[in-house]
Amino acid sequence: MKEEGVKILNEKDSISDEIANLIKIAREATNSAYAPYSNFYVGAAALLEDGTIVKGSNFENASYPLCLCAERVALASIHSQYPGAIVKMMAVTARNPSQKTNEPIAPCGACRQVLLEYEQKQKEEIKIIMFGEEGNVAVCKSAASLLPMAFDHSFLSK
Ligand code: THU
Repeated sequence: MKEEGVKILNEKDSISDEIANLIKIAREATNSAYAPYSNFYVGAAALLEDGTIVKGSNFENASYPLCLCAERVALASIHSQYPGAIVKMMAVTARNPSQKTNEPIAPCGACRQVLLEYEQKQKEEIKIIMFGEEGNVAVCKSAASLLPMAFDHSFLSK
């Protein structure tokens, strides 16, 4: 990954307790994923400013386009349960029982777009932490830096 604003951590880099805990909870979140079609069990964990952690996991459907991604499930859950909450960071991972994931799991374009909307709404950056079952952890400073030249509210007039 060569995106600007993304830092790939290796074994020598220390990870804060806050990030280590969020990584652990995102891994746990993969256990609630419903992914019988892709076999790709995604978990997301978001840390709110007050310390609350909200999990999300992907939720698939036999009608494939209806599949919901873990990151957007987490954000919708935050929006409905904690309206106005500030999201400080989100950790994202995935597990595939038939083939170990060994590189950072990057949010899909749709999730980047929705993360960006949330980030712009709260006017504070959301740090995004990406990792697989093993291997490096990638940390991105904001949703905006994961989605260059994004379409956003500034294009729309009321
Ligand atoms: N998926 C996510 O949950 N998040 C992403 O950012 C990428 C994809 C899910 C959707 C689908 O259930 C499975 O992963 C395979 O695409």
